[in-house]
Amino acid sequence: MWPTERLAALDYPTPVFVYDGAEVRRRVDLVRRAFGSEIRLLYAVKANPLPALLGTMATVVDGLDVASEGEMNAADAAGFAPDRLRLAGPGKTAALLERAVRSGVPVSVETPGELTDVAGYARALGRRAQVLLRLEPREPRRAFGVQMSGPTHPFGLDAEETVAALDILRAAPDAIDLLGVHVYSGTQCRSIRGWMGHLAEALDLAEAVRRAGFALREINVGGGFGVAHSGTEALDVAALGPRARRTLDRFAAAAAEAARPRFVLELGRYLVADAGVYLTTVLRTKTRGAHHIAVLDGGAHHLWAATGQLGPSPPPVAVSPPGRGSLAPGRTHLMGPLCTPLDHLGAIAGRLRQGDRVAFIQAGAYGATLSPLRFLGHPAPREVLLDRDPAPIEPAARR
Ligand SMILES: Cc1ncc(COP(=O)(O)O)c(C=O)c1O
Repeated sequence: MWPTERLAALDYPTPVFVYDGAEVRRRVDLVRRAFGSEIRLLYAVKANPLPALLGTMATVVDGLDVASEGEMNAADAAGFAPDRLRLAGPGKTAALLERAVRSGVPVSVETPGELTDVAGYARALGRRAQVLLRLEPREPRRAFGVQMSGPTHPFGLDAEETVAALDILRAAPDAIDLLGVHVYSGTQCRSIRGWMGHLAEALDLAEAVRRAGFALREINVGGGFGVAHSGTEALDVAALGPRARRTLDRFAAAAAEAARPRFVLELGRYLVADAGVYLTTVLRTKTRGAHHIAVLDGGAHHLWAATGQLGPSPPPVAVSPPGRGSLAPGRTHLMGPLCTPLDHLGAIAGRLRQGDRVAFIQAGAYGATLSPLRFLGHPAPREVLLDRDPAPIEPAARR
């Protein structure tokens, strides 16, 4: 994907994120082939909301998972119609809910109170709101690097809240059209067994709603597909897909032909992480005893994940400029330009010199979007999507 020669050929001014659109399309294709053409595939905008990337997504995925007004605006600008969006997130404001109901974006509700509010907006607007119940898994799923359920988490309806939500639905057929259910267990799952456990529970939770007398047209079985990190393998999606499909087919077959639900996957990281690199240049070097330090022109303000504070970090790779020769022996600590020791971005073999380049691979997901971009007033990073030839530089258009 990003062999060193390809990294060395990226002669953009740094710091810069470079994304490979062909790799994104390849991932989408891999998921579709594994899960079959019937699966609906959403891209979770939170993973990377770059406008050009959403433009690519508009041509290859069925829709977007959005979580805020900003993401709704980005989806709108990329040409996604409201019925291709799904709004989820624990802290939706009144303005956001009202906008979703007004424009016809289905809402994943996370509390009974939110459902009551949605019914209120629908009545006030003279519309029926489309709703999914976001159901919380009963137990945290350990196969996921970050788990999104448990007594201190605000995500989704637990068993008691689900009963309350169903009562609200029974009383509001004029205002609410229940589209289905949504179960998201967490992110960074690399185990087929672990993900199948999540799927089994998601379908159990869906079945309980169906048994309560509600037809489900859509079951969003979440995502959280993991990528490789520090010597571990990525989730084997090609092997997972057919297994998951058998389970989904069995579940669908239990419903009458006309009432068969469609299944939805919502993926962020898996579609874009490996497609992106963050490229930096060494500004200064220092040697302190046995320690070599390189200060880069990019850092944690653009790629917080490289600090390791968010879990496994995007690994750095030294990219000597062509003609420079190989690196001197040693080991170099990588520091960004921020005035904090938190801006330590790992260490690499070799002794770097001023002007050498360092690339952080697997930087396509939760990169700039999950970083303190305003800290110390450094400029936002440039971002380039290699999807056409020649590739234009997209100046920091995100904010
Ligand atoms: C509701 C929801 N859907 C989808 C995603 C994307 O997850 P991932 O990037 O692991 O695929 C997230 C991530 O937090 C999420 O909260």
